[in-house]
Amino acid sequence: MFFLDRFYDILLSVYLYNEKRGYTYLEQLLGAFQESFPAEKQIIASIAKHAGDERRHYALFQEYFREQNRAAFLVSSWCGYCDQMVSCIFGKTIDQLDPNAIVHEQQKFFQLCRLIMITEMRGMKQVRLILKNPLIKNRPELTKIFRVVERDEPSHCYPYQAWLRKHGQHEPSKKEYLADCFVHYSLMLVKLPLLYCNPFLRRINT
Ligand SMILES: [Fe+2]
Ligand SMILES: [Fe+2]
Repeated sequence: MFFLDRFYDILLSVYLYNEKRGYTYLEQLLGAFQESFPAEKQIIASIAKHAGDERRHYALFQEYFREQNRAAFLVSSWCGYCDQMVSCIFGKTIDQLDPNAIVHEQQKFFQLCRLIMITEMRGMKQVRLILKNPLIKNRPELTKIFRVVERDEPSHCYPYQAWLRKHGQHEPSKKEYLADCFVHYSLMLVKLPLLYCNPFLRRINT
């Protein structure tokens, strides 16, 4: 079933990439926040849980490829939902978004909270759609992974919303939601099909 396996591998490679991008940045953000504001126990615990969950999701997708005895596809920041959102909202790459600097720039940190909220809301919607997809329903091991993602997603979104509310800040703006729609639909309707059809797409060397 070459064509079907390719579909699963591309979808999961994009998830794998995004989970890694997410937990790597969140772990840095956690360190920076903890060092600067050790008394903010609640949000620190939420970021720590969030980073831990994304790392676990990454491990689940990795496990899938190990069990299939195939390597994931090598996808770049071009397919990174968070990369593209950061670029739209901050005009920078994730690597240029220094967590130590951002925790000290209140408005930027609020902007980052909104970005994380939008990302996780999109994640919730997307995982529900994936779980309804017959191609995923047919595969119990994939359903199991996406159920874990579905269970964890709400706890990733609401702590940032609570932080914004606590500080009298607005929730994501129309412009920020527009960025989400652009990034999401270009990924689903253009980038994923292009990856699928690209015969030169390489797998990660393991
Ligand atoms: Fe995740
Ligand atoms: Fe998440």
